[in-house]
Formats: sequence, C-alpha cells, structure tokens
Amino acid sequence: MTPVEPETKKRSYATAITLGMLLLVVLLTCVPYLVSIALAEGPAPDNAADASPIFGVTIPAGYKQWELIAPAEEAPPLDELRAVVGNQTAIDAYQAGKLPFPDGTILVKRAWKRKQSPEFASATVPGVATTVQVMVKDSKKYAATGGWGFGRFIDGKPVDAAQHRTCWGCHEARAKSHDYVFTRLAP
Ligand code: HEC
Repeated sequence: MTPVEPETKKRSYATAITLGMLLLVVLLTCVPYLVSIALAEGPAPDNAADASPIFGVTIPAGYKQWELIAPAEEAPPLDELRAVVGNQTAIDAYQAGKLPFPDGTILVKRAWKRKQSPEFASATVPGVATTVQVMVKDSKKYAATGGWGFGRFIDGKPVDAAQHRTCWGCHEARAKSHDYVFTRLAP
C-alpha cells in the first residue's frame, strides 16, 4: 500500500496544478472582457473609437439611403467620383434656399475611385469606396468652426487629428458665402 500512496498524491498534485492553470487562463481571458463591459456601461461617449478626433463626429446611420444633393468629380491624383447627400433637415434647407443651414443639418460626401466601365469604354463608374466625409451643424457645440463639426472616415474608421485640422481652414477660406458648404443643389 505504501508505495502507491505517494504516486496517488503526486497525481492529485498534478491535477490540482492543471486545474489551477486552467482557472488562471479562464480568468485572464475573461477579465479584459468583463472590464470592457463595465466600461461600456459607464458614461462613455457613444462609440468613442468610431468618432472623429477634435469634433467627435460619427458616420450617421442610414446615410446610404439619403437624398442626393449633387455629384462631384475630383481630378487626378485623387481621381474620384463623389456624391454629396444630406439628411431631411439638409434637403429641406436646400430646397428652401435657407442659409445658414439649421442645427441638425448633416451632409455626407461619399467618394469612389473613378473606374472605366467594363461594358462601355467612355463611361465612368464608381470603383472602390475611398472616404466618407461628414459635416454636422451644431452652432453651439462647434461655434469655433462656423457651427460645423467634421469627420473623415476610411473603412468606417476616423482618420487622424492632423487631417481633421485641415477641414475648417479650407471650407472657411473658400465657401464662406455659402455657410462654409461648397455643394449647391444639383438642378
Ligand atoms: C483643400 C480644401 C478642402 C479641405 C482641406 C477639406 N475640404 Fe471638404 N470639400 C472641399 C470641396 C472643394 C468640396 C466640394 C465637393 C468636392 O469637390 O468634392 C468639399 C465638400 C465637403 C463636404 C460636402 C459639403 C460641402 O461643403 O460641399 C463635406 C461633408 C466635406 N467636404 C468634409 C470635409 C472634411 C471632414 C474635411 C477634413 C477631414 C474636409 N472636408 C477638408 C474642400 C476641402
């Protein structure tokens, strides 16, 4: 009997260690998850990772169904086709010729690489999507930038702060007479 006992003990030690290790692995796997749940339930800003730096602008839900304001085309090197669309507040303001745009106006500029139609040589069609750019009107929140908050997104993720520092300068310098918005309603 005696030689068996230490063997059994050894085995139960081994089992205990294995179980301990497993528990540790499970804990280590779960902790970041639990922490992220705790953080998500806290008063964190809505999807901070998906919001633009400086302005905190996000891609508005359903913008692919929004009404067209005007298409645009950008020469090489960007070489893009664009479509500026707006939410109902934007469309109403455009149709009424109302300036400045009211708070709640959202404009989205969609962009694609220009591509020659595979079926018809002289036709140009949208290629890969490049950027989604957003302007949100909130005259109080964005008072320092003409009432507009800006966001530029690639693959759904905002680009860096340096790029976001350029938005206001160009829109302010070139589109001041039209509430800093370049695009006019296409006839
Ligand atoms: C160097 C000038 C310039 C800079 C910088 C710039 N834009 Fe624009 N933006 C334009 C022009 C020009 C248009 C008109 C449409 C077009 O030609 O694509 C435009 C159009 C837009 C529109 C559609 C509404 C409108 O004004 O016509 C949005 C939204 C927009 N830009 C967002 C941004 C964001 C976000 C940034 C910064 C990340 C930015 N823009 C930086 C020149 C600029």
